[in-house]
Amino acid sequence: LAGSVRAVASAVEAGPAVKTLSEASLQAQVEGFFARALADVAGEAKVMVAPADPRFGDYQCNNAMGLFKQSKKEGGKEGWKSPRDVGEAIKDALPAEASELFEEVNVAPQGFITVKLSPQWLHKQVAELFDHGLQLRSSMSQRIVIDYSSPNIAKEMHVGHLRSTILGDTMANLFEDLGHEVVRLNHVGDWGTQFGMLLEYMRREEALDGEASSMVVSDLQKFYRSAKEAFDEDDEFRKKAQTNVVELQSGADWARAAWNRICEASRKEFDTVYGRLQIRGLQERGESFYNKMLPGVVEELQEKGLVTESDGALCVFTKVSETPLIVQKADGGFGYDSTDCAAVQHRINEENANRVIYVIDNGQELHMRMVFSAAEQAGWLSGGARLDFMGFGLVQGQDGKKFKTRSGEVVRLRDLLDEAADRSEVELRKRAENANIVLDEDKERKLKQNAESIGVAAVKYFDLRQNRNSDYRFSYDSMLDPKGNTAVYVLYAYARIAGVLRRADFEIGTLSTTDLELTEAPERALALRLLRLPEVIAQVEDDLFPSRLVDHMYGLATDFSSFYTECPVVGSEQQKSRLRPLRLLLRELRLRDLALRDSSVQLLVNAIS
Ligand code: ARG
Repeated sequence: LAGSVRAVASAVEAGPAVKTLSEASLQAQVEGFFARALADVAGEAKVMVAPADPRFGDYQCNNAMGLFKQSKKEGGKEGWKSPRDVGEAIKDALPAEASELFEEVNVAPQGFITVKLSPQWLHKQVAELFDHGLQLRSSMSQRIVIDYSSPNIAKEMHVGHLRSTILGDTMANLFEDLGHEVVRLNHVGDWGTQFGMLLEYMRREEALDGEASSMVVSDLQKFYRSAKEAFDEDDEFRKKAQTNVVELQSGADWARAAWNRICEASRKEFDTVYGRLQIRGLQERGESFYNKMLPGVVEELQEKGLVTESDGALCVFTKVSETPLIVQKADGGFGYDSTDCAAVQHRINEENANRVIYVIDNGQELHMRMVFSAAEQAGWLSGGARLDFMGFGLVQGQDGKKFKTRSGEVVRLRDLLDEAADRSEVELRKRAENANIVLDEDKERKLKQNAESIGVAAVKYFDLRQNRNSDYRFSYDSMLDPKGNTAVYVLYAYARIAGVLRRADFEIGTLSTTDLELTEAPERALALRLLRLPEVIAQVEDDLFPSRLVDHMYGLATDFSSFYTECPVVGSEQQKSRLRPLRLLLRELRLRDLALRDSSVQLLVNAIS
C-alpha cells in the first residue's frame, strides 16, 4: 500500500503552477464578475458572494435585497419594484465573459442570484490542475508572529495548552506553506511573584540541592501547592518570598540558579509533549524575556499620556473595558498586563511583525483586547500591523464539566496521549488477530508506532475539526470512531483510494486530459470540491478557523466515497478515465496535509506504511 501511495505521488508532473490564493480562488473569480455587474447597477457596493446550497447552484450573490431596501429609502429612483428586479438587473449586467463560466444564472424571488458553473469550464480547470498541479502562495507575503502553546513553568500543561499548541502549530504550518515568514513564539509563564514563594518553600525543604535532572514537574506542582499554603498562612514566609522576588529580579546568583533549574525541569516535560505532537520550530520566549523592557514601556505610556494613577497603581484605561490594564502595581512590581504590553510592542517594533496572532483561551480575550487597544492608543499600530486574538473554548469531560481525572486532578497531557495511543493499539491488535497476522518482533514494533501515530492524529484532528470558539467534550470513542468525522475515517478514505489505484494496475500518467470525464453528478461534485481548496485556505488565512480546512478535507473524503460507490472505476477502458480524479484526490489530500503537517494525513499514511 505504501508503495502504491508513493508511486502515485511520484507520478505527479514536475513543477506545479504557482498561483496566489486570489488568482486560484474560484469564489474570487465569481466575485469578480459580480463586482463588475454591481458597479454597473449600483456604483460602489461591496460584493457579497458565497457558496450556494448545492440544490440551487454553486455560488450565490446576495446583494439584491440590501440594494433594494437602500434604493427604497433613497426615493426609489431606479424604479425597482422588488428585490427580484434588482437581481435581474445585476444578472443582465454580468459581463459577456461570464457566460464561459456560468451554465445557468437564476434569480430567486428574494433577489438571490445563484449560478451554476458550466461542465466544460470545470473540466478545463480540473484538467489544468491535473497537468500542472498547483502550488498556492498568499497574495501578500508577511512576517507573522504567532504566540501559542505558552504553558506555565512549575505547573503541568493542561488541555487548554494542548488546544493552543495544536491550533497555533496548524496555522503556523499553513502560513509558512503560503510563503509567509513565521515566527513561532512560546510565551511561557516563567516570571512573577509565584517564584518567590516557590523558591522559599524549596529552600526550606532543601529541594534546591541535589541533582537537577531528578527534579520533575509533578514535584514542582506539589511544591507550588504547599508554597501557596505557607504564603497565605505564614507572615514570616510571605516576607521571605517577597525578598526572593526582588533577589530574582535583580539577578542574585542563588535565585537565578534555582529559577533556572525549575525552568529546566518544566521544559523537559513540555518537550516530551511537543515531541509526541511533532511540534517543531517553536521558540521559547517567555515572560522573563520582557523583564528588562518593562520600566521603559511604562515610561513611554506615561509620556504619551495614557497612564492614570489609581490607589498607587499605574493604570491604562482603554476603550474596551471599564477595568484598566495595570502596568505597574502599587508596590512597584510588574505583572501579566505589563509583560503583554511590552511583548506586543517588541513584536511590532523589534520583530517587525505585520501581523501578531495570539492563540489563547477565550477567558483571556478581554485582557488581550485591552492590550490591543493600548497598543493602538500608543501609536504602535500606525505602521499597519494587525493584531488577532485567536481564542478558543474549553475542553470538557464527558459530563460537560471541567476535564479532570477520576480523582479530580488536572489531566496530564502525556497521560491523555498515552490513553489515545493505548486505545488504538487495542484496536490494531484486534484487527491483526482477525486477519490472522502473526506479530513477529518487527511487526510488533510497527504496530506500537502506528498506534502512537493514530492516537496522536486522532487527538489533533478532533481538536482541529471543532469550531475553535465552542467548548467541546473530550471523548476517546468519538475521536477514534472509524465512521465519524475523524482522523481514522480520513485514513480509511486514503487507504481506499490508494487501494483502488493499486488494483487498477495501469499507468495513470499515460492518460491525457481529454480522457477526463465529468459526466456523473458525483464526479462533478468531486471536481468542484477539489477546485474550492484555494478559497477555503484564503478564508482560513483571514479568519483563522482551521476547522474550515478539516471540513473541506472531510467533504473531500465523503465526496470521494459517493464517487467511488456510484461511478465504477475499475473495468472498461472508458471507466478507467475516472481514475484521473482519484489521482488528483490523492494529491489534494497531500496538499491538505501541508496545513495539518504531520498531524493527520501524513501521520496516517505513515501509520499504514
Ligand atoms: N501562560 C498563559 C496561560 O497559561 C498563556 C499566555 C498567552 N500569551 C500571552 N501573550 N499572554 O494561561
